[in-house]
Amino acid sequence: MSKQFDVVVIGAGPAGYVAAIRAAQLGFSSACVEAESYADPKGEVRLGGTCLNVGCIPSKALLRSSELLEEANHGFVMHGISVDNVKMDVGTMVRRKDNIVTQLTSGIKGLFKKNKVTTLSGHGKFAGREDDLWLLDVGGETVKAKYVIVATGSKPRHLPGIEVDNKVVCDNVGALSFDSVPKRLGVIGAGVIGLELGSVWKRLGSEVTILEAVPEFLATADAAVAKEAWKVFTQKQGLSINLGVKIGKVTVGKKGVTVEYETADESKKLECDRLIVSVGRIPCTDNLGAENVGLKLDDRGRIDVNDHCQTNLPNVWAVGDVVRGPMLAHKGMEEGVMVAECIAGQAGHVNYDVIPSVMYTHPEIAWVGKTEQQLKNEGVEYRVGQIPFLANGRALGQGDTTGFIKMLACAKTDRVLGVHVIGASASELISEAVVAMEFGASSEDIARICHAHPTLSEVMHEAALAVDKRPLHF
Ligand code: FAD
Ligand code: NAI
Repeated sequence: MSKQFDVVVIGAGPAGYVAAIRAAQLGFSSACVEAESYADPKGEVRLGGTCLNVGCIPSKALLRSSELLEEANHGFVMHGISVDNVKMDVGTMVRRKDNIVTQLTSGIKGLFKKNKVTTLSGHGKFAGREDDLWLLDVGGETVKAKYVIVATGSKPRHLPGIEVDNKVVCDNVGALSFDSVPKRLGVIGAGVIGLELGSVWKRLGSEVTILEAVPEFLATADAAVAKEAWKVFTQKQGLSINLGVKIGKVTVGKKGVTVEYETADESKKLECDRLIVSVGRIPCTDNLGAENVGLKLDDRGRIDVNDHCQTNLPNVWAVGDVVRGPMLAHKGMEEGVMVAECIAGQAGHVNYDVIPSVMYTHPEIAWVGKTEQQLKNEGVEYRVGQIPFLANGRALGQGDTTGFIKMLACAKTDRVLGVHVIGASASELISEAVVAMEFGASSEDIARICHAHPTLSEVMHEAALAVDKRPLHF
């Protein structure tokens, strides 16, 4: 007899595993289908999706290792600490990263056990409908479900004519597991992956050249942040970033990779030992059986959903990277919770206006809400408060004073409309702005909150005071 569940989630990435756990917490029999082993040594299915296996978590582990090397080589000296003969063992660094991944992916298995979520190994796809149940094919076996949540995520977009072998020409999968530091590293795409992983390998000693199609740097960030980031990355850190280029032929030979490209006025060649292709990601809907059941996709190949992640089919929902919106783990997880709660008849909800974006470069970059350019384009009147970390005692003590916090508030209501941080711990600092905006706070509300001293969060406090032109320490 075929297995039957109230809720079956297809895909065990952050959107899917969270949806499965929340559904189980709400009293549904819940199962999660996962196809990928992510090169598990035993060939077993690995939970956690892109995020845990080849995304957020491994990249942050490598970022940390490379930051420590940078500190040892260049940061300790200002504290009077000298270390000779600093060495880096790439194998140990990669093994540490792999161990963290294993710890976390096994942790999801534990969470599934605790919450009584059944793992179904194999590729999942729609096979049809019988009465009010969906029939799914999971690795050749039929599974029945009252509700289906599609959380199949995304995969790297590749460029035509550039074959990715994940040894010499890599997407995120290969770029997280180099066995040695390439002398010359080429990167196509100055987006989040290009800048995060480009920074890792630059700190480890590679000469890094990034080729970006768009003429503007970090076009989605606030322009002031993008300008500061450009200065730090190119002038202080020595990343070579070329904007407005058109990629031509890419050839791989015995001596490495040659990337032919055009700038506005000349044809050039980049010779490198390894190449990372990081030009965005595409939704995973291949072989999902969408056509078997009439599941509607949008014009960009994503599953078409409404604000509550409902598809065009009854009792079928879709969450995470496979649907519209930013391709971010926390956005997917929120959607997973929302959908499980909606299925249970509760008022599940995601506030898409306050989803934070973070780049884990050094300095980190984080923002939530509108940029100054967006407010101008929308004709919204606003006030700005901007405070540099240089004016903060804790930042000075830490020896990390790059960057600033910029707060944008409505000129009429004072409601906070956007907060932009470039600097140390921006990823943590942004949470205060997210909470404030979620609850519709004004800059005056933040100005009246007591912030611990000495902390970097005082810069947020001062930025709020600066909106009203009354900063106390700047
Ligand atoms: P995924 O994590 O892609 O999971 C989908 C799962 O479904 C996969 O395990 C896949 O094998 C499985 N699957 C697909 N089709 C089927 C099928 N038919 N049957 C069975 N299983 C199937 N986001 C952040 O928020 N912060 C970060 O710091 C961050 N860093 C990143 C760094 C890198 C290098 C990359 C590549 C991404 C990063 N992201 C980050 C993005 C983040 O990883 C994704 O937004 C997130 O993983 C999306 O979650 P998801 O559950 O929608 O999909
Ligand atoms: P991205 O969208 O951030 O950046 C891709 C870059 O490639 C863009 O700047 C784009 O203009 C450029 N590009 C596209 N086609 C090109 C071409 N033909 N030639 C040269 N440049 C080209 O995508 P990325 O870096 O691949 O990351 C994918 C997604 O993964 C991100 O959008 C994000 O959602 C997620 N991610 C999130 C992270 C975080 O939250 N810290 C970290 C890494 C990834």
